Amino acid sequence: MRKKIVAGNWKMNMDLPDGLKFAESLNEYFKAKPSKAEVILCTPFIHLAGVSQIVSTGRIACGAQNCASEPGGAYTGEVSPLMIRSTGAEYVIIGHSERRTYYHENDGLLNKKTRLALENGLKAIFCCGEVQKERESGIHREVVRKQLEDGLFNLSEVDFSKVVIAYEPVWAIGTGLTATPEQAQEMHKFIRDLVRERYGKDCAEELSILYGGSCKPSNAGEIFSKPDVDGGLIGGASLKKEDFCAIVEAF
Ligand code: 13P
Repeated sequence: MRKKIVAGNWKMNMDLPDGLKFAESLNEYFKAKPSKAEVILCTPFIHLAGVSQIVSTGRIACGAQNCASEPGGAYTGEVSPLMIRSTGAEYVIIGHSERRTYYHENDGLLNKKTRLALENGLKAIFCCGEVQKERESGIHREVVRKQLEDGLFNLSEVDFSKVVIAYEPVWAIGTGLTATPEQAQEMHKFIRDLVRERYGKDCAEELSILYGGSCKPSNAGEIFSKPDVDGGLIGGASLKKEDFCAIVEAF
């Protein structure tokens, strides 16, 4: 049975004291009320060490939102996968559409980051998804196929087993527009079929595929009930305890 996962992507929100307080309160909540899904908090770099320490007493995992593509050295402002791993964090988001758009990260670079992250003992949450124009012109499947082929499909089977894929249609991120459960299921199945072609049946069945984009308590249950949707990558709603807990409990 593949893992069910709900990951909160805090993006660039909360200062250090607020982030630690929030992590503490979620940690206490899920200690008292264990969830069926694995809960991951993907925080800004400055929170990683503190949040990892807090959640080490509970059931939550911690992850970064980005990492460097080089292992170390003179790269001012960068944070390497080894540094991230040394905080206790287990995951890293790679290829979020905000990184692709605002920081011009392309599939080649994302592939390099993914390989380095896996080499350093992190698990990767690799994001893919089309923009609105691409969906309207009916090429959304081809866009996602290319992102996966160029970003992931040169990994070995062993490395690929440490990857979680997040399908985030860019038109649904932070817009209040959500993919319908049917649209999500259709793309998730398409992704799993591609993985089956490339890595075989077992790998495809073990892969967790998360949906992201305006996921909230009112729509999470229906989206998560689809057979190829294994959880969510949550932005805005992951910053509110009630909403985030309700989404986790939608399983
Ligand atoms: P929202 O949930 O705010 O739409 O963001 C989704 C997202 O980008 C998660 O990575």
